[in-house]
Amino acid sequence: MQPKSNIVHLPVYQPGKPIEDVKRELGLTEVIKLASNENPFGCSELAKAAAIKELDQVHLYPDGGSVELGAELARALGVNTDQLIFGTGSSDIILMLARAFLAPGDETIMADETFSQYKHNAEVENARIIEVPLKEGKHDLPAMLAKITERTKIVWVCNPNNPTGTIVTKPELSAFLSQVPKHVLVVLDEAYCEFVVDPEYPDGLELLSEHRNLVLLRTFSKIYGLSSMRIGYGVGHPDVIRFINQVREPFNTSRMAQAAAKAAIGDKAFVERCRQENAAGIAYLSDRFEKLGLPYFPAHGNFILVDVKRPSTEVFDALLRKGIITRPRWTYYPTYIRVSIGTQEQNEKFIAALEQVLQESAVHG
Ligand SMILES: Cc1ncc(COP(=O)(O)O)c(C=O)c1O
Repeated sequence: MQPKSNIVHLPVYQPGKPIEDVKRELGLTEVIKLASNENPFGCSELAKAAAIKELDQVHLYPDGGSVELGAELARALGVNTDQLIFGTGSSDIILMLARAFLAPGDETIMADETFSQYKHNAEVENARIIEVPLKEGKHDLPAMLAKITERTKIVWVCNPNNPTGTIVTKPELSAFLSQVPKHVLVVLDEAYCEFVVDPEYPDGLELLSEHRNLVLLRTFSKIYGLSSMRIGYGVGHPDVIRFINQVREPFNTSRMAQAAAKAAIGDKAFVERCRQENAAGIAYLSDRFEKLGLPYFPAHGNFILVDVKRPSTEVFDALLRKGIITRPRWTYYPTYIRVSIGTQEQNEKFIAALEQVLQESAVHG
């Protein structure tokens, strides 16, 4: 057997450690997962009820085109239905974009470091990957612009960026977009946009009419709390959306996911509560990190990248033994862990555990 040579060395995606694994491996009964930027408040009750109801139709294939969900979402976003594409999470849209736009040898530009799946899918397509270092944890848009050539097909901008949580501002993004040549697709990943409260944050939707070469990625996995339903979407010019649709698997989103997402859009109160709780959680954790003397990046999503000033895997392991799962091992930030914002109770437990871990390591180290 001979797979494509460019995939042989590819790592398998390493997700946040599952709660069940930690309980089993460490014999713990209570485990808090702050590793995958999930919503600690669950999902809207309306979404849950809609998914359960839809189980009655489980024997029937879903609507591959997600027409009903598309109509509801188009209304909510103020776009046309032909500007929307749905995927098995926004990860699926990333995969489809790479599949539709990247041929072997094509160039694609992304930050270093950022969400791993841009690079992963570009590698599967054997594209040439150009990574541009972050500047103080932020996308360096002028440096990314300078890397564009005739062969560039896609530039990826993650806003807020995962793992740093930083944002590019409206003027920065507008200046960038106005200089990107029209043959280059800009993918603006807004997976965490609903959490952002900073007035400087650009709303990608407002930029779409000016830039036909812009596609937004959004998801129901984060603020909507529907991670395991696996549903996300892209918004862009109908021509671009059509290309993505041409490489889409026929039934890539389930009936339950479509029903849950449709109901979730209608539950604005749930989203608003989560946004507020998240902002309060960021304020709490930022304050505690300052008191502990730990540098951190200004957080705009539902996670914070914090410098624990020791090898991150050591702190990760010690926290794990106390039943708290975080995310270590960042290429450029070997002493940082990424922690998702939890409920206030979870945040307090995390800080208490972190304080203990830091003290223990100060004594033993
Ligand atoms: C920046 C970013 N984009 C996309 C995704 C993919 O999310 P999903 O496939 O669940 O929609 C994630 C998940 O963590 C992410 O952090």
